[in-house]
Amino acid sequence: MYKIATLNKISPKGLRTLTDNYQIIDNPDEADGIIVRSADMHEMSFSKDLKAIARAGAGVNNIPIERCADQGIVVFNSPGANANAVKELVITGMLMASRHVPEALKWTGTLKEDVKKTVEKGKSQFAGNEIHGKTLGVIGLGAIGVLVANAARNLGMKVTGYDPYISLKSAHELSNKIPVTEDLGELLETSDYVTIHVPVTDQNKGMMDSRRFDQMKDGAVLLNYARDTLVNEDALLEALESGKLSYYLTDFPNSTLIGHDKIIATPHLGASTGEAEDNCAEMASEELMDYLEKGNIINSVNYPNCSLGELDPDANARIAILNRNIPSILGKITGILADLDINIRNMTNTSRGGYACTLIDIDGDENVSAEEFLETMDFEGIVSIRILK
Ligand code: MLT
Repeated sequence: MYKIATLNKISPKGLRTLTDNYQIIDNPDEADGIIVRSADMHEMSFSKDLKAIARAGAGVNNIPIERCADQGIVVFNSPGANANAVKELVITGMLMASRHVPEALKWTGTLKEDVKKTVEKGKSQFAGNEIHGKTLGVIGLGAIGVLVANAARNLGMKVTGYDPYISLKSAHELSNKIPVTEDLGELLETSDYVTIHVPVTDQNKGMMDSRRFDQMKDGAVLLNYARDTLVNEDALLEALESGKLSYYLTDFPNSTLIGHDKIIATPHLGASTGEAEDNCAEMASEELMDYLEKGNIINSVNYPNCSLGELDPDANARIAILNRNIPSILGKITGILADLDINIRNMTNTSRGGYACTLIDIDGDENVSAEEFLETMDFEGIVSIRILK
């Protein structure tokens, strides 16, 4: 029986994906796996039993992924599972800005008498523009960016994408009418609306700075439903002040941004739909089960994808190893198996950055125990070993 702790409220429907082999518990110190939404895990210490953390969502900035990798804890996210929900809020955001919806709602709410007449007299102050025919620049063409780009195109917008790391999957899913530029400056110079859909990294923190705002069209609208730290706040406030930006839409309000008349802020609602919450919890549960039972890693953000599929019923066991990506480890592992006269039926080894994953299905009738292997394979570079049957 595996124990899964949940931090935050995780969709019960999604959690029902976990089979009878799983128990939901409260104490993360006793868990084999954790499912988390937005809880900040940076100050948490992790027990030696913890094998994996699955983020029910895309962003992983609430999880110390390097420390987890070092401790042999595989961190997963659920890319695409909430993409439709975010896409719908981004489209809503563009329409809110173009039609001055927040100001209009606020004004309408103040009307008390003679409402019909006042409405007809006062409505012209909120006359807006249509998004049809305008240009949208999409920064980041992952699961969300592609959905936003295609939806905007279907609404009659001209769309340009920017993503130096576009995946084959995204390239395939993106409408072939949408050009992808390698020049962010060019996208900014030509877009009436710019929307950001990249994960935050050390390299792109504050990427929207004064230089980038200067490149934007006068009166452009910036939408940020990705992460707050992608935008330099001082530069943003200057751009709003000078009229360079006509609106900033964000899902990440803070005390400086609240109340600004050109900032339309939602309370981190991008993924807050029943459908997205179910999808994310379901994907997170499936990732944990695949890893805990079979050692397979799909959608990890700190270890490479690595899979041997279902456990082989004819094999003696599967050895699941997490190791550092340093020379000669694989040779040592296979050498030890040869010394123990254990035949390899099937194996895979993948690496990413400083870490690697090795899965080996072995033959034989011996009752292979994790302890026995730990003793023989106790050399530099091994992070964790599990024997799965
Ligand atoms: C995400 O990164 O996908 C969102 O922040 C998810 C959420 O709102 O929990």
